[in-house]
Amino acid sequence: MFNKLCIIGIGLIGGSIARAARENKLCATISAYGREQDLDNLQQALALKVIDSYSLNLQQAVAGADCVIIATPVGAMPGIFKQLQPYWSDTALYMDAGSTKGNIMAALVDIFAEVPGNFVPAHPIAGAENSGVDAALADLFQHKRVIFTPCAQTDKAFIKQAARFWQGMGSSVSYMQVEQHDAVLAATSHLPHIMAFALVDLLGRKDEQDDIFKYAAGGFKDFTRIASSDPTMWQDIAIANKQHIIPLIEQLCSELETVKHMLQDNQTQALHNTFTYARNARQRFLDQHNNMTTKSITFTIQPGGHLQGQVRVPGDKSISHRSIMLGSLAEGTTHVTGFLEGDDALATLRAFQAMGVTIEGPEDGNVTIHGVGLDGLQAPKEPIYLGNSGTSMRLICGLLAGQQFTATLTGDKSLSGRPMRRVTDPLAKMGAVIETTDKGTAPLTIKGQGGTLQGIHYDMPIASAQVKSCLLLAGLYAQGETSVTEPAPTRDHTERMLSGFAHPVKQDGNQVTISRQGKLVATDIDVPSDISSAAFFLVGASIAENSDLTLKHVGINPTRTGVINILQLMGANIELLNQRTVGGEPVADIRVRSARLKGIAIPEEFVALAIDEFPVLFVAAACAEGTTTLTGAKELRVKESDRIQVMADGLQILGVDAQPTEDGMVINGGSIGGGAVVSHGDHRIAMAFSMAGLRATGTIEIQDCENVNTSFPGFVSLTADLGLNISSEES
Ligand code: S3P
Repeated sequence: MFNKLCIIGIGLIGGSIARAARENKLCATISAYGREQDLDNLQQALALKVIDSYSLNLQQAVAGADCVIIATPVGAMPGIFKQLQPYWSDTALYMDAGSTKGNIMAALVDIFAEVPGNFVPAHPIAGAENSGVDAALADLFQHKRVIFTPCAQTDKAFIKQAARFWQGMGSSVSYMQVEQHDAVLAATSHLPHIMAFALVDLLGRKDEQDDIFKYAAGGFKDFTRIASSDPTMWQDIAIANKQHIIPLIEQLCSELETVKHMLQDNQTQALHNTFTYARNARQRFLDQHNNMTTKSITFTIQPGGHLQGQVRVPGDKSISHRSIMLGSLAEGTTHVTGFLEGDDALATLRAFQAMGVTIEGPEDGNVTIHGVGLDGLQAPKEPIYLGNSGTSMRLICGLLAGQQFTATLTGDKSLSGRPMRRVTDPLAKMGAVIETTDKGTAPLTIKGQGGTLQGIHYDMPIASAQVKSCLLLAGLYAQGETSVTEPAPTRDHTERMLSGFAHPVKQDGNQVTISRQGKLVATDIDVPSDISSAAFFLVGASIAENSDLTLKHVGINPTRTGVINILQLMGANIELLNQRTVGGEPVADIRVRSARLKGIAIPEEFVALAIDEFPVLFVAAACAEGTTTLTGAKELRVKESDRIQVMADGLQILGVDAQPTEDGMVINGGSIGGGAVVSHGDHRIAMAFSMAGLRATGTIEIQDCENVNTSFPGFVSLTADLGLNISSEES
């Protein structure tokens, strides 16, 4: 990519850039510049083959370089810019790697009159407490973020080139304004470093007197790891960004004062709330961080398995979400059993914790929610991250429309690409104020309108339980009646659960109506197993020879049983046993045995009732005799992935005659071969192809399976116990 890369300052960051650039073949040669006093380090860099040459003369070091990176401490950069100015080339790309940006941009303006167009300010969010070229690592920037803070003068072509360079080293590029960068980094990086240095300064002096370090253990070591960082670098950063850091130090002092008072006054509950809030906020951070750096999980399924025995699959996702939402808005304490401990439902749980609700658990599926009442939610202190969960985002958006505060909802890459206008448009008709991206996608910023929302009547253009539920939740806060009609029946868990919480909902044909009644009354909820998770086994046991499986305590709400209707039409051997009603939801044990399936034209009336089950139904169709045709299912294109395209691609790789259409698929059943397919981060695609392995003639490898945890934690071990030859590997 570059012919000659010149790095000014070959310490941990500069050295790691050199190693990564070389390993990823991003440049032909690497030179370095340093001062007299850096000579040992430069010689060491040469000996380690991190660089090809060095010079103590800046002009020589940069001569002929088409990329120059300044990786010195930020305090030294103005001096470097001054020295560089006479040799500045208009065709080379210049970047820094500094942790502050305001001072760097100001120095450039000082020296060059304006920021040169070929200077791209870059800050890799990566580091280690070690310093010097010895500590440099070729993979330091892998799966890490690099922040660019270009200004109006920065040339787009150079930004593109810089982005290609960092992406080539495994980083993902984000963009920020200079001011925003310095404010955010002051809070999340500079303040923690200063705190670690200050604490060790304090305790170091105590240690000299009282010998306390020998009693210190993991907590001290973890908290103070960053106090081993380079003092020169951090002194520079602290000074350069002091206008953002000083107010934060003041806020921290006042937070410590508050904690001191809690201790003085024995305010146990307040202390507990503060610690609980902090723990949950950290968990949110870890979730986001893991999402950015997660390793990819691959499932491998060997042919020849079967499914036998009895099993209880995890709790219903839709009901788990709603139990947290309504339990939080209720007056009194709600106990939930059978709660789904998958990432999606946990995202909802954390969202309500972030809005001030005390929620205990989950522990073995038990959750206790201390409801705060319809008007008791508090403004979240930060944007609420909802991971992969569309249900969380669309439903929470509705109830945020009626709050007295503003909140922002964010999600992972898949969720950030999913359509949100289907909820924001009708909510706007009710008077809600919601900002989305230009494409109508998340992040969503909902400026709660308190009591001024107005009930509307809405004719849903698509059959969507999420849209219906969103409007019903907004209707809890609106003046007058809110009613929704649906073009086809969709899951009615919200309506059933609202009744369970003693809030009336009127159902009249395909129309449901709600009006503000003042309160929800806490109740206990037993979440049945999710029929959408059971569906994998209904298909798996049907297509695999010698299978006989009983799925215990599965929700068979008639708005969810399309998968059973469709499989029975295809000739499946499915029996519903021990039917009963639990907490307002019908439940049964389901016995399924191997059967010869035949292709059918799937009646469109079943589409909304089986909307999440089509990935695995396509696998059933691939094993059936004859042709299966699905129509009227365009919605599948905007689920966690485009489920029509992704399933068609995967089935074709496995040798199945599967033809995608605009709103469905035509599959000519036959045999399934082996091959490597990609789930595109869609949990249900990953699990559907796992079941295909029961009938495949070769090994099936499924890539990108990390999101199976969103709805089905423990999928691999549970299916392996039942007889599927499945293994999972992290890479
Ligand atoms: C859900 C509704 C459905 C479904 C989703 C869960 C719910 O979405 O696909 O997995 O819990 O309300 P749509 O309403 O978009 O069809």
